[in-house]
Formats: sequence, structure tokens, C-alpha cells
Amino acid sequence: MRQVDLGVDIGSLRLSNPVLTASGTFGYGLEFRSFGDISALGGIVVKGTTLEPRAGNRPQRVVETAAGMLNSIGLENPGVDYFLTHYLPELRDLGVTTIVNMAGNTVEEYCRLTERLQQPGVAALELNISCPNVKAGGMAFGTSETAVYEVVGQVKRHTSLPLIVKLSPNVTDIASIAQAAEAAGADAISLVNTLLGMAVDTRTRRPILGNVVGGLSGPAIKPVALRMVWQVAQAVRVPVIGLGGIMTANDALEFIICGASAVQIGAANFIEPGTAWQVIDGIASYLREQGLSSVRELVGSLQF
Ligand SMILES: Cc1cc2nc3c(=O)[nH]c(=O)nc-3n(C[C@H](O)[C@H](O)[C@H](O)COP(=O)(O)O)c2cc1C
Repeated sequence: MRQVDLGVDIGSLRLSNPVLTASGTFGYGLEFRSFGDISALGGIVVKGTTLEPRAGNRPQRVVETAAGMLNSIGLENPGVDYFLTHYLPELRDLGVTTIVNMAGNTVEEYCRLTERLQQPGVAALELNISCPNVKAGGMAFGTSETAVYEVVGQVKRHTSLPLIVKLSPNVTDIASIAQAAEAAGADAISLVNTLLGMAVDTRTRRPILGNVVGGLSGPAIKPVALRMVWQVAQAVRVPVIGLGGIMTANDALEFIICGASAVQIGAANFIEPGTAWQVIDGIASYLREQGLSSVRELVGSLQF
């Protein structure tokens, strides 16, 4: 079988292939070892990590929707110190490319967390800016260009690791938010996080989610995510990582053709835990069929 080159660069980080798993949908990777070799993935993005442990939101936390799901987990996680002592050593020993997704409620919190994560075995940081900025009345960082510029710029001062900024789709103009992140020093942009939504129990007339609103993910959001990835890829020079509703290799290829250098598999992991490995194989087969030698030739090759 003809060899194809699946390697891609995310800033200074070389990935062996363009397929990552999305934060919050693949645990710490270790839970998925029975489904495949996690070190053979392009990388894993671990669950959103905070400075202190968090208990998360009250139940109910997930609802199935047409072609997707709503979640309001509320960033439940054991905190950065637990991650560093209980998960990172094993991930490092297994040779997994580990990207840590970071969450915080103030710029200072993000910066202290960034400092704690300067450890061998952490390949890159992914900054989740969909969190509420408590010093700005709880408005998500990712909805204001000024707040994005501020938090990305400050975090960048505390790390030499590649910094991926993960955008919220709940904005009017995604391209200007991406440009603010790039101007502040982002090495790559990932998008999208979940779209805000809600669901109601008509028998009780109450919201189904304990938190009332939650984030929509899965195939339902793919066309919106793809449109945003395409817009952002044209607006910035740094690499773009696309996600939102990817279930198959063909879905992933759409994102790559629209300008994504890499993709992340999210909600699909709950339906078919082997999806990420299948997507890697599917991308390789497509490259062979198309007579291409490298996936990089495909990035941003949309004809229009
Ligand atoms: C249960 C669940 C938990 C999630 N937790 C996080 C998180 O901690 N940090 C984050 O940045 N995104 C989180 N996400 C968002 C996903 O990483 C991803 O951006 C989103 O689900 C869209 O991709 P998908 O449609 O492929 O799932 C979570 C999504 C789900 C479904």
C-alpha cells in the first residue's frame, strides 16, 4: 500500500496525524485504551482543567437532541494538581501527545494555571475562552475581542508551549474574535465549542437541564462549525483546528478542505469510541485515492 504523509504542524508542535480528540469527550484518554492505541492518535485534548477541583453543575447534565446532545457539565474536574500527579505521568510514559484544555474565571486564574502546566509531557495548551469572566459580569471571555486579546496576551506571557485558543461559536463575528486571539499571540485557533441551547420537559414545563441552558454538540452543529472554520481560516495565518459534529472521515475531510490543519472528534466518541482511529484510516485512504502524498496538500484546498 502506498505510504501517505499524515503529519501536520500546529505551531511548533508536529502531530503524526491530524486527528485529535476533543476536550470533555475522551476523558483523560486512558479510559479509551481498550478501543485503540491512544499514542497513535494525533493527540488527545484532556477534560477542561481548572486551578482548583470543581464539582460541576447540578443534574440533569445531558439531554439527547435531534442529531446531537446538550450538556451542562459545568467543568467538573479534579483540578490541575490531581491531573499532574494522577494522569500526566502515565500519558507521558505511553508517549501520548497530550494537550491540556484550560478553564478559568479570571485572567489571573488562567495565568496561574498556565504556570502550573509547564511540565514535561504537556505538548500544548488549549485555552477554553467560553468561560464566564467574573470580573466582567459573567460575560464569556470569548464573546469580546478586548477580553480575548487580554486573556490570550496574559496567558502567552506565562508559557513557551504552543498555545491553541478555542473559540466560542456564540458570537456575531467569529473572524474578528479569531484575529484578536492571533494578534495577542495565539499559535493556533481551534473551533467550535458548543452552541448555546436548551430543552424543556413539557409535562413539568421545566427546563430539562439543571443549569437551564447548555451546549449543543454533535452532527446537528456541523454545518455551522464548518462555515465558521472556513471564515476563520481565511482571516488568520496561524493553523486552524476544526471541530463540531465530526462523525466520519468524510466529515473531517470537509473541515480540512475548508482550511483546518487538524480536526477534533467530540460527541462521536460517545456513540462509537473507535471513531478517531477510523477517521485517521479514512483520511489516509482518501489521500491514496486522490493521488495525494501529504494531507497538507489538502488543507484549505476548497474550490470556489
Ligand atoms: C460532555 C461534554 C463535555 C465537554 N467539556 C468540554 C470542556 O471541558 N472544555 C472544552 O473546551 N470543551 C468541552 N466540550 C466541547 C467539545 O470539546 C466540543 O468543542 C464540542 O462538543 C463540539 O464538538 P462535537 O460536536 O464533535 O462534540 C464538551 C462537550 C461535551 C459534549
